[in-house]
Amino acid sequence: MRETFVSFEEAAFSYDGEHFVFEELDLAIEQGSFTCILGGNGSGKSTLAKHVNALLLPDRGTVYTFGRDTRDEESTYYIRSNAGMVFQSPDDQLVASIVEDDIAFGPENLGIENPELAQRVKSALEEVGLQGFEKHETTALSGGQKQRVAIAGALAMDPAILILDEASSMLDPRGRAGLMRVCRELHEAGMTIIMITHFMEEAAHADRVVVLDKGRVCLDGAPSEVLAQASELTRLNLDVPFACQLSIQLQKLGVPVATCITEEEIKEELCRLHSSR
Ligand SMILES: Nc1ncnc2c1ncn2[C@@H]1O[C@H](COP(=O)(O)OP(=O)(O)OP(=O)(O)O)[C@@H](O)[C@H]1O
Ligand SMILES: [Mg+2]
Repeated sequence: MRETFVSFEEAAFSYDGEHFVFEELDLAIEQGSFTCILGGNGSGKSTLAKHVNALLLPDRGTVYTFGRDTRDEESTYYIRSNAGMVFQSPDDQLVASIVEDDIAFGPENLGIENPELAQRVKSALEEVGLQGFEKHETTALSGGQKQRVAIAGALAMDPAILILDEASSMLDPRGRAGLMRVCRELHEAGMTIIMITHFMEEAAHADRVVVLDKGRVCLDGAPSEVLAQASELTRLNLDVPFACQLSIQLQKLGVPVATCITEEEIKEELCRLHSSR
């Protein structure tokens, strides 16, 4: 049986003691799963992410990561070293002035030594497409390049859980596709992935999509179930996947296509219809 890796149990959290970001949040994430979290601005996604690696602690209720209560100070180091996080803003997360030192920072703190350390830095740089940037100054990088360094830093720690908080928001289309490919490969190799995103094509490729609204889980299921709920997504101020919009418009015109969520699916539907004519 798969273990529950992250569990929010009636968790409540407020930054100011007055306005609660979430009040009774229940959410369990299984080991080895690939979960996308969606939600409008201010719905609590980043706050939730910071609870997973004990950067924030619930005011009430409990958050368990790797089965350990995040409030238990003796577990903080274990949790932080095994739950890698890439934050939304790249400027907040680079710690060293040279790219390779920044990427080495996390694994070095975990006690990883050369030659493994150098190997991890090298492959993390390759995974984010920044080969040749080893000696560059981090302050002289573009926003998207900084974001890639931050992602490489998290990858180099080889975490059991990787939490990406809109990590692809500054990446160009090729960078986004590359990050998605790396995440899928890591997931196939057993890593648990929690990806917060506004991009529906990313969510369509997860195992599970959780939609937050005002700190509550309002939709939760397989991408094919959640992302096909066009009117609900629109009400929550979220994009409806292009393939879903197109299939609904075709259905209104009387074209017998299933509601699809990815472009590959709608392409297959149209080919099927075309060949059955
Ligand atoms: N450091 C902070 N101090 C006080 N309030 C905060 C802080 N960070 C977030 N909030 C508030 O908490 C709520 C949830 O914010 P959070 O950043 O978790 O949302 P989000 O879903 O990540 O939004 P976005 O899509 O804009 O990144 C918002 O109402 C926000 O104003
Ligand atoms: Mg956020």
